[in-house]
Amino acid sequence: MEFEKNILCIGAGYVGGPTMAMIARQCPQYKVTIVDINPERIAQWNSNDLPIYEPGLDELVKATRNRNLFFSTDVERGIRENDIIFVSVNTPTKTFGTGAGMAADLQYWEKTARQILQNSTSPKIVIEKSTLPVRTAQAMERILNTSRNGVRFDVLSNPEFLAEGTAVNDLKDPDRVLIGSRETEDGLKARDTLVEIFANWVPREKIITSNIWSSELSKLVSNAFLAQRVSSINAISALCEKTEADVTEVARAVGADSRIGSRFLNASIGFGGSCFKKDILNLVYLCRHYGLNDVADYWESVIKINNYQQERFVRNMLAAMFNTLAGKRICLFGFAFKANTGDTRESPAIYVTRRLLEEHAEVVITDPKALNNARIDLANVQGKVLFVDDPYEAAMGCHAIAVMTEWPLYADLDYERLYRDAEKPAFIFDGRNILDSRRCFEVGFNVFPIGKPA
Ligand code: NAD
Ligand code: UGA
Repeated sequence: MEFEKNILCIGAGYVGGPTMAMIARQCPQYKVTIVDINPERIAQWNSNDLPIYEPGLDELVKATRNRNLFFSTDVERGIRENDIIFVSVNTPTKTFGTGAGMAADLQYWEKTARQILQNSTSPKIVIEKSTLPVRTAQAMERILNTSRNGVRFDVLSNPEFLAEGTAVNDLKDPDRVLIGSRETEDGLKARDTLVEIFANWVPREKIITSNIWSSELSKLVSNAFLAQRVSSINAISALCEKTEADVTEVARAVGADSRIGSRFLNASIGFGGSCFKKDILNLVYLCRHYGLNDVADYWESVIKINNYQQERFVRNMLAAMFNTLAGKRICLFGFAFKANTGDTRESPAIYVTRRLLEEHAEVVITDPKALNNARIDLANVQGKVLFVDDPYEAAMGCHAIAVMTEWPLYADLDYERLYRDAEKPAFIFDGRNILDSRRCFEVGFNVFPIGKPA
């Protein structure tokens, strides 16, 4: 069958996989290929056990795989055979050298640019899907424009705004699609090609176009604003605990102002996930690079409050449990960084586990989707932590339960049974405010939600 367009995505991760599956689903007239250097990951994408858990993703992949969606490890062939190339490789925080702990590590991204250059014999549109520091497209263009065989490359920025756990819906019905391009004739032509792809299912008014630098920067700023809301409400949760105000009531009242809005105001144990922290650090690094130290300090405080909130949670546990956790068994309900995902990257539960172990507590972890990743995260404390599928079994004989992830199943458990099986006095620390505190209190637990009277 002849396809209208041949699209490649380099990087078969949390973004590449779902994003391309959605394009394949919405555009049966296009052939979409996803390549990755990790053969295990590609094998999983080609199996019935996908490498990531995401509601609705299994159906999406089943409907398209081997029809117009293909997964492969042959990166070079992929580049040769496709003229529209999304780059969705990981861009983690640098762990070495200049900018360690702050700047984005662009080595995977740059390797990809060089690979595209080496394997291209026809014109390509190269699309930055990964989240990158503003002005990365310039570096990409400089690498690609060293082409000796005169191949033309147009670089676009098309950042991804999906959230894990809701990725399929976010892709199907996005608030907006952002496409940044050079404002030259060729740049605008490349931009229009990408607009045409998304216009297969996204209403035109939701497809925003801009200059390429605005697009790159908007992605960092979106994540910074979202994370800032979480840190703002979490900062207020600390004040609520001192004053008997209830953070849920405060969030409701504040969020009812349409200028503020009600979403993303859930106080919590802190934000996790692979991106908020790394993207803010990246933004802070960029600001410092341009000498904007006051601006950098402002955004850095979002991360400081997040660290404070996680540590505060552990300190509250210590204070409530008579200032010692040594030898006490603590059960963590959830390990994923949020509900409806098995992803544990930067999950606050990792920090809490390490701190509890420092206090010589015994930690039992349960999670419906994230136990495999939890085992990997905690490989270096193996033997000190138990991983248990069933929440009742996990909580058996524990001195405390701490809710780390807002999986709805934890709100629906039988707390009378949990209390019966707990060490007394029994404690619950609800890091997500999802439990019926009154009910838990009535069955006998000492209950400590976030930002509410205990
Ligand atoms: P990921 O680690 O899940 O996937 C990246 C993939 O790229 C990996 O499978 C890796 O093997 C592959 N890769 C690396 N170098 C390669 C190369 N040279 N050739 C082929 N494959 C290569 O990462 P992710 O979560 O999908 O994130 C990708 C990018 O998207 C990041 O920049 C991230 O900031 C951004 N982003 C992520 C999310 C999210 O929800 N995870 C949302 C929006 C944006
Ligand atoms: C976030 C953004 O929401 C996406 O738009 C963006 O594309 C993505 O980062 C990215 O660039 O990777 P994600 O991290 O998957 O998506 O999940 P969120 O729903 O944003 O949650 C992030 C963290 O904040 C989670 O730990 C969550 O539990 C926490 N959170 C969120 C709160 O503590 N309170 C809230 O009110 C909302």
